[in-house]
Amino acid sequence: MNFKALLLASAMTAAAVPGIALAQDLTVGFSQIGSESGWRAAETTVSKSEAAKRKINLKIADAQQKQENQIKAIRSFVAQNVDAIFLAPVVSTGWEAVLKEAKEAKIPVVLLDRDIDPSGKDLYLTAVTSDSVHEGKVAGEWLVKTVGTKPCNVVELQGTVGASVATNRKKGFEAGIAGAPNVKIVRSQTGDFTRAKGKEVMESFIKAEGGGASICAVYAHNDDMMVGAIQAMKEAGLKPGKDILTASIDAVPDIFKAMAAGEANATVELTPNMAGPAFDAIIAYKTKGTVPPKWIQTESKLYTAADNPQAVYDSKKGLGY
Ligand code: AHR
Repeated sequence: MNFKALLLASAMTAAAVPGIALAQDLTVGFSQIGSESGWRAAETTVSKSEAAKRKINLKIADAQQKQENQIKAIRSFVAQNVDAIFLAPVVSTGWEAVLKEAKEAKIPVVLLDRDIDPSGKDLYLTAVTSDSVHEGKVAGEWLVKTVGTKPCNVVELQGTVGASVATNRKKGFEAGIAGAPNVKIVRSQTGDFTRAKGKEVMESFIKAEGGGASICAVYAHNDDMMVGAIQAMKEAGLKPGKDILTASIDAVPDIFKAMAAGEANATVELTPNMAGPAFDAIIAYKTKGTVPPKWIQTESKLYTAADNPQAVYDSKKGLGY
């Protein structure tokens, strides 16, 4: 149902709820982190198409990875008196002051794909995110199952320092391997969720680990860093996906291309459609006064080479990627 149809359907309830949107389309301001990964770029594209489907006026501010730019964007959305603000928080701390300003202006805030610290729970309406601890756990459990009792030294490429998803994916992976003393993280460093840094950090891991001979697996907090790491392994004469196992998160088309070529092993899917459920929550809130649950959880699905990666690649290409 589009926004106008929803408005009609809810007109009677709407009359009883003060301060709700009626005749005009909603305007939503989205403070987006940037375009550090293929997943992030897809999330932006999908947000635009989900807004268009519902005839929502979406204003996107690209923060170029900087929290200060996100804070400025939120202040500008408050000054413009938008109907709602979507925020993909680059890091989890430092949001209290600006989110209080949005709250005082009675503008609901929806978090997309990352969390803020629990102390800020009262400052947003709902969060549309995956369970990022679970994502890491799924990757860790897959690795344990795959290596069995064989000793396995893992190198880890972490996401942006201070991002909820980086903290949680690390924690989840550690929980996933906790019962297997043969599987150990021997090196761990941030690759900032980018392909270029993933490659650079993997090159340094390979150098530090005797040309890569002692590395059994790479765990990356996103596929883009893994694609960079795969490149680094190939340039060092290693065989990713065979000599060195790979597990990462996002399920972007490029990792399926690598999987189809036998160069990647596992990924945990994160949908780029965070905005769709967020728009629906805002529409219901604005038109009927329906308060959404505090957490709208998106699915996490494990894909491996057994899942016909070429077909998954073909089906994903064009879906915002
Ligand atoms: O917050 C989601 C993460 O941010 C994605 O896994 C990653 O690719 C992105 O940059």
